[in-house]
Amino acid sequence: MKFAVVGSGTMGHGIAEVLAIYGHQVKLIDISWDILNRAKQRMEESLRKFYEKGTVKEDPSVILSRIEMSTSYDVAKDIDFAIEAVPEILDLKRKVFQSLDEIAPREAILATNTSSIPISEIAEFTSRKDKVIGMHFFNPPQIMKLVEVIPSKYTSEDTANKTVELARSLGKVPVKLRIEVPGFIGNRIFLRLMQEACREVESGEASIEEVDSCARNKIGLPMGIFELSDYVGLDIDVDLWENIVKRGTSDVPCKLFKEKVARKELGVKSGKGFYEYPGNKYLKVKLPATSKVDPARLLSLAVNEAAWLVENNIVKPSEVDDVMKYGYNFPKGLLEIADELGIDNILRNLEDIYNKGYSAYKPQDLLVKMVKEGKVGKKSGEGFYKYA
Ligand code: 3HC
Repeated sequence: MKFAVVGSGTMGHGIAEVLAIYGHQVKLIDISWDILNRAKQRMEESLRKFYEKGTVKEDPSVILSRIEMSTSYDVAKDIDFAIEAVPEILDLKRKVFQSLDEIAPREAILATNTSSIPISEIAEFTSRKDKVIGMHFFNPPQIMKLVEVIPSKYTSEDTANKTVELARSLGKVPVKLRIEVPGFIGNRIFLRLMQEACREVESGEASIEEVDSCARNKIGLPMGIFELSDYVGLDIDVDLWENIVKRGTSDVPCKLFKEKVARKELGVKSGKGFYEYPGNKYLKVKLPATSKVDPARLLSLAVNEAAWLVENNIVKPSEVDDVMKYGYNFPKGLLEIADELGIDNILRNLEDIYNKGYSAYKPQDLLVKMVKEGKVGKKSGEGFYKYA
């Protein structure tokens, strides 16, 4: 198949690389040759790592030869599928989608990797609303297996099915939402993790390092919550936080993230965020081996969010778990972990924090019902899952 990838930054260059690894022809479009050349260098470095490990068999130069770079949309005239990955600015998305709509063949699907702008708003920039869809990759897209597929109210079933099939053919695990919700699945849960992490630090319950040590050493996550926030980029975190809250999700007061962004401490990409990254390169953060933070408390708001998603029939528990396992490299699904920690423990923490005046922690009916019925997780034989 022939693809256009518009935007060659962190996500765009990675998506183009994945498509080329799987044998597709890719037109990589961006606004300047400086940016494109930097993307080429990043793809080369990444492909070299895969080649040396044997995870890709073809020589990197052969894979790269399938990627044509351009500063003009004209190269998109014969594509089958486009994926947009430009910054989250509505006017920019408008320009990209209007250009693609004008140049790409009528039957081409136009996907967006947006993490925060409603897909239906983007679809409205085009004359093919049924062929516009969300295809949300996770950072780094070369490694993370998850792709959230988000149909808007206009997207046809055929477009959704083709996008799911494409994701699968790229070795990814697609999770399709029944209906679009702000932040989709992964970022809604990631937001809840950041909010609780921030609340614990700002209320003096724990330090940043203690929160992250709990996440990594007690829960087994690949990164601490603040470490992951640095990795994603604190400007991106604040952006997705504000976009989700603006569209009706309850907020938790937190100054830490915005203060960092105001000081231009953006995480890995600027060399400093909650931690320091010499040379603007990610290096695993050093954390204390032990922590007083309770995993059930740190995950409580995230589990409450997952319960909301399940209650509202947006995804099933197993799909929430796929999102966290394949999009964030959780060692187990969030709801599997919740079952192990005990739904009663999760609920007790939510009630405790809610009673301190944090309205976002109001326990979801589903969790209250589960505890009332004695379905408190692994120890009772049933929680989100059944145990023999
Ligand atoms: N290309 C090729 N290989 C790469 C790579 C890339 N771009 N990035 C990392 N690797 C390889 C490394 O070379 C290394 O290989 P090795 O094990 O053979 O040496 C391996 O991946 C692991 O990398 P590191 O040793 O540098 O570091 P870690 O062991 O900590 O792994 C990680 C890095 C895979 C990123 C891991 O920390 C992780 O899974 N973190 C969680 C990431 C996450 O949650 N992403 C989602 C963010 S949210 C999002 O994207 C949504 C958006 O909308 C905000």
